[in-house]
Parts: sequence; structure tokens; C-alpha cells
Amino acid sequence: MSTVITIATSKGGAGKTTTAELLLGAYASQGRRVAAIDADLNHSLSDWINRFDQYPMTLRQELDEAKIIPLVEALADDHDVIVIDTAGAATQATVFAIGCADLVLIPCQLSSADVVEAAKTTQLVASAAAMSRQSIPARVLLTDYQPNTVIAGHVESELVACGLDVIPTKLNRLVAFKEMTFTGTIPTDGGAGALITSLLRDVATIVPALNTPCP
Ligand SMILES: Nc1ncnc2c1ncn2[C@@H]1O[C@H](COP(=O)(O)OP(=O)(O)OP(=O)(O)O)[C@@H](O)[C@H]1O
Ligand SMILES: [Mg+2]
Repeated sequence: MSTVITIATSKGGAGKTTTAELLLGAYASQGRRVAAIDADLNHSLSDWINRFDQYPMTLRQELDEAKIIPLVEALADDHDVIVIDTAGAATQATVFAIGCADLVLIPCQLSSADVVEAAKTTQLVASAAAMSRQSIPARVLLTDYQPNTVIAGHVESELVACGLDVIPTKLNRLVAFKEMTFTGTIPTDGGAGALITSLLRDVATIVPALNTPCP
């Protein structure tokens, strides 16, 4: 049975596709069987995968909300991890991608608008969980993060005030996370590599299936 991680926020440009690429590259590098579902009309994730073809993975593009769940079910048997990248606005496809997730990661950059949309997206996860009568963990992931800045303090206070759960690892603003959009290779060393390792560790504490060594 596979683990489904959906990356969602109604804020555009928050780091969804970047996060999807990092997770897909990292899990594929561990030897896990990974599948990417691109549910964004802009198909940035598909473009990245098709252009570089660096990691073994299955790629499916699906914008039709009625086909998201059947697609996940079809991929589940043959894949360990399915990562769904969604559009920068809440679409019906996003709702179904959230509804079938074992974890929803909500990227959030350092702006008030990012926090507002993270809160709305968390509410959407809660509604999808109520609709499907199951619990769906949701975590805010700070991206393009600049530690020890006034804005970081503001944003983190707002997230706490909104009652949002924030994943401990923060993806700092690093050029390595931009370079991979041109190289197709996710960082494995330096500060960026360490952050990815730390992010996977955090995810594994939320999704027990990813706590097990790679099959
Ligand atoms: N940790 C980071 N360090 C540096 N740049 C980052 C980081 N995270 C994201 N970015 C940059 O932020 C921009 C937006 O990221 P991305 O395309 O992943 O967002 P998105 O949420 O998928 O956008 P959209 O809503 O348009 O699909 C990109 O230029 C990306 O390189
Ligand atoms: Mg995107």
C-alpha cells in the first residue's frame, strides 16, 4: 500500500512544485517506487520531470477531479509513495487530492497572504477529512525561509495564532533549491541536502509507513 502526500495551498508561488520535486527526488533516490501526479494546469512538475528524467518515477497528469481518486487507487499497488502537486488556487481536483492523502503539506513563504491561504487550505483539509470521515494530517511547511528576520517572526506568530501545525524543518532560501529547476537534480549535500534529510525525518514521524527502511 502506498503513502499519498498531497502538496497544496491556494496561494500561488508558495513552493508546492519545489516541495513535490524534493520529495519525489529524495524518495526515488532511496529506491522507493514513486509516482507523481500533476494536478496543476500549468504542469510545472511534469515539465521538470520530462525535461530531466533524472529519477525513476511514474508521472501522470490529471486535472479531472473525478479521476484523481481512481488514479491514486490504480497507482497504489505498484508504488510506495505518491506525491500530488496541485494548482495555486483551490480547485475541485485539489479537494480530491487532499481527500485521499495520508499527509497534506502546505507550503508557506514569508508573507501575510501565504499565512491566510495556509489557514484556508488547512480548513479545506479539515472539511475533506470530515467528508471522508477520516483524519488527514496537515502541516505547514515554511519555504523560501529566511531565519532570524523580523518577517519570519511575524509569520511564525501568525501561524501559531491561527492554530496551524508547522513542520519543524524549514526550507531556507537557498540557491540550491533554485538551481535544481535548471539541473533536474535535487541537492544531496551542503545545507540544502541536510534540510531535505531533516524534512524526510519529519515526514516519517507523521506517516509511520515512511519510517520503515526502504524495501
Ligand atoms: N527554499 C527555497 N529557496 C529558494 N527559492 C525557493 C525556495 N522554495 C521555493 N522557492 C522559489 O519560489 C518560487 C515558487 O516556487 P514553486 O514554483 O515551487 O511554487 P508553487 O507553489 O508551485 O507555484 P504555483 O502556485 O505557481 O504552482 C520558485 O521560483 C522557487 O524556486
Ligand atoms: Mg507549482
